[in-house]
Amino acid sequence: NANRQWGGRFAEGPSAIMEAINASIGFDRKMWRQDISGSLAHAAMLKHVGIISADDEAAIRRGLADIAARIEKGDFPFDEALEDIHMNIEARLSAAIGDAGKRLHTARSRNDQVALDVRLWVRDAIDGLSGQIRDVMRALVDRAEEHAGTVMPGFTHLQPAQPVTLGHHCLAYVEMLSRDLSRLADCRARMNECPLGAAALAGTGFPIDRHMTAAALGFDGPTRNSLDSVASRDFAAEFLFACAMCATHLSRLAEEIVIWTNPYFGFVKLSDSFTTGSSIMPQKRNPDAAELVRGKTGRVVGALVGLLTVMKGLALTYFKDMQEDKEGVFDAAETLTLSLAATAGMVRDMQPNVARLRDAAGAGFSTATDLADWLVRELKMPFRDAHHVTGALVAKAEAKGVDLAGLPLAEMQATEPRIHEGVFGVLTVEASVGSRTSYGGTAPSNVAAMAAEWKAKLA
Ligand code: ARG
Repeated sequence: NANRQWGGRFAEGPSAIMEAINASIGFDRKMWRQDISGSLAHAAMLKHVGIISADDEAAIRRGLADIAARIEKGDFPFDEALEDIHMNIEARLSAAIGDAGKRLHTARSRNDQVALDVRLWVRDAIDGLSGQIRDVMRALVDRAEEHAGTVMPGFTHLQPAQPVTLGHHCLAYVEMLSRDLSRLADCRARMNECPLGAAALAGTGFPIDRHMTAAALGFDGPTRNSLDSVASRDFAAEFLFACAMCATHLSRLAEEIVIWTNPYFGFVKLSDSFTTGSSIMPQKRNPDAAELVRGKTGRVVGALVGLLTVMKGLALTYFKDMQEDKEGVFDAAETLTLSLAATAGMVRDMQPNVARLRDAAGAGFSTATDLADWLVRELKMPFRDAHHVTGALVAKAEAKGVDLAGLPLAEMQATEPRIHEGVFGVLTVEASVGSRTSYGGTAPSNVAAMAAEWKAKLA
């Protein structure tokens, strides 16, 4: 038997495999709230301009409320033969209220309907994710405040570079996440135009009021070109990029947690709440949550690449290819939701080993730059020469198996006779971080002030 929605032209129903490849109800049912909001706004507008009667509009409203209640209760018969969420709801509505339900699709197509629903879904996802990102930022700011003066090694190439503070390190991620927030806000602002009323692709001859539906659905206004309205998914791609970038930031933090919890580093500990054991090795404590935050980034990036690949060959306007936009968008948003929650949890859970961090901060001649800077300041040596002298002193210390502060003054003077006792004042890790007072530098006073600034912003 032919499809109920277009049976006029079709005598036969689709083959089972046609139905299976075509149906999206298995995943697009997630947009039921958005679909119903769109239909309510559309019906109210149809009534307002006199296309349907007030009675019909009231019947549609009651019918949709009943459908919403049923879906909410888990007692709605989703039917794969009806392809997608749009036709499932519309068919059910018509079955319940008759002709009024069949009038709802006047001056509308599934093409503008789906473009609307996905936008509404993405807009809601942006709002939810933004709240979660702020929560992770708050967790990091709290740790930064607590550890504004906790010295740890700063790395480049994962080799000891210069001492920094743990608070400064936490605030680096706060900066990254704040840009993720603003990328999502940009994306939201750019996508906040309503495609409803573009109809199939060309607009409609009915006297609809697109400004009215746009306003009712919280958009800044209607989209300006009907072809673009039904053919474009760049808003979704942009959303996926913002998600992928954020997931990448979380992945880098997760990687650091994996490194830091390794006993050879021993920088931080995670409690039983965020680690797992091994079924064979009794001593194990594995940072699985961090590994999964890192690993799940792959699917978020995959969703972005997937959607760009779907869109790149499409002529205007709608093709069924575009039905493939949804699973990636849903999965990316849901994956990021989970990763943000796990990251907030780990950041609050991790217990830094302050003594170990301090020891590590001093290893690897990490104050060599401070020594070179001292030679420049005290002896007026050009920086390049100071770099050379310091390098020679590092080689001497390394050969003797001591750190720079352990090198006797006489040995330093053998390399550069003008060096005096004062040099030892800059060779400790505390002196090193304390001296980094340039704006944005790691000095504890800077970090405490920046943490306070973020705290106020995020309150
Ligand atoms: N389920 C479809 C989608 O997700 C809805 C739009 C169908 N439009 C059409 N012309 N077949 O894209």
